[in-house]
Amino acid sequence: MKVTLSVIKADIGGWVGHCGMHPDLIAEGEANMAKAKKSGLLIDYHVTKCGDDLQFIMTHKEGVDSKKVHEMAWNAFMSCTSVAKKLRLHGAGQDLLTNAFSGNIKGQGPGVAEMEIEEREAEPIVVFMADKTASGAWNLPLYHMFCDPFNSIGLVISSNMHKGFKFEVLDIKESKKVLFECPEELYDMLVFIGSPSRFSVRAVYSRETGEIAAASSTQKLSLIAGRYVGKDDPVCIVRCQGIFPAVGEILEPFARPHIVEGWMRGSHHGPLLPVAVKQATPTRFDGPPRVIAAGFQLADGKLVGPLDLFDDPAFNNARQQALDMADMLRRHGPFEPHRLPLDEMEYTTLPQVMQKLHQRFEKI
Ligand code: F6R
Ligand code: MG
Ligand code: MG
Repeated sequence: MKVTLSVIKADIGGWVGHCGMHPDLIAEGEANMAKAKKSGLLIDYHVTKCGDDLQFIMTHKEGVDSKKVHEMAWNAFMSCTSVAKKLRLHGAGQDLLTNAFSGNIKGQGPGVAEMEIEEREAEPIVVFMADKTASGAWNLPLYHMFCDPFNSIGLVISSNMHKGFKFEVLDIKESKKVLFECPEELYDMLVFIGSPSRFSVRAVYSRETGEIAAASSTQKLSLIAGRYVGKDDPVCIVRCQGIFPAVGEILEPFARPHIVEGWMRGSHHGPLLPVAVKQATPTRFDGPPRVIAAGFQLADGKLVGPLDLFDDPAFNNARQQALDMADMLRRHGPFEPHRLPLDEMEYTTLPQVMQKLHQRFEKI
C-alpha cells in the first residue's frame, strides 16, 4: 500500500520565552488533526513538540506537496496561533510568514519533510526533530548512518545495503540540487556537505531498490523571510531495517555528539544534545540545541507509537559529553568559534556599529 508521511512543524509561540511548548497548543493541534482524520484526509497523526516547535506527524494518501494536507496544517497552525496570542506566548505566530495560505506550505515559514512510500510488511520509521539549530544539522548523522561502516556495520555485512546509497544535496543559497552515488563519490560529496550552512542533505535513496530512505526539511527561514525570524529547527524522517540501516545504526551517530549552528539567537555553535521528549526544553543560554527521536511502526498508514528513542540510559554518556562540549564553547562568550562568523550570524549589529565608526577607521 502507498502511503505518504508528512512531518510539518512550526514555532508559533514559545512558553516560556523560546524554551518550550504550552500544553494548550498541543491540545489545539490535536483537535485540528482529529478533525482532519475524521474527514478522511489523514489516515493517522501524532502531535508532539521539540522545544518551542509544534510538530505534526501525519500519514495520508495524498502524496507529497499535497495542497489539501498543507492547507490543513497551515490552518491548524493558524488556530494554534490564536491560542498562543490569547496566552500572550512569546513570538506568537513567528514562523507563519505570510497572511494567507498560498498553495504549498514550503516557503511560507513552517519546516516540511515528506516521503511517499510503498509500506513494507513491517515499516519501522524514526522521526528526528531538533530545536535551536539549522537544517544542515542532519548532514553529519546522515553521512554516518548511510556511508560510514564504523557506524553502520550493515554497509559491510548486509548484502542488501552493500551497494550503498544515493544522496540528494541542496545548495540552499543558489537553489540548486545535485545527486551523489555513495560510496564511489563520498569524497566529492564531503566537499559540499561538510559546509552544512550552505549545503544540506534533502533525501537519501537505497541503491538496491531506488526506494527513499530518508527525507529532511531544508527550509531556511532567514532566506525565506530576508531577516532573522528564528532558526529553522529541522526535522528528518528515516526508514529503518531490511534494505535500510537498523534502528540502532540510525541512532548511533547521536551517541557521538557533534557541533551544529544555532543556540542563543541562532548565532552560535553548540553540541546537539540527544534527549527524551520531556527534556526537549532548551533552557541554558536558550540551549544547547536538542534532538529527539520518535519511533513508529506503520500499519496500513497507522502510526503505531511513538517510542521515545533517546529516553534511554545508553545515551547518558553522549549527553554528558555534549554538556562538557557546551561548557567549553560557552567559555568563549562572544568569540568565535562559539559565536558564528560575522556573515553567518542571524542577529547582528555590525551594520549599525560600522555606520557609527566608519570615519574612525584609518588607512594603514
Ligand atoms: C534561537 C532562539 C532564541 C532567541 C532569543 C532572543 O533560535 O529562538 O535564542 O533568538 O531568545 O529572542 P527574541 O529576539 O524573541 O527576544
Ligand atoms: Mg521560538
Ligand atoms: Mg524552535
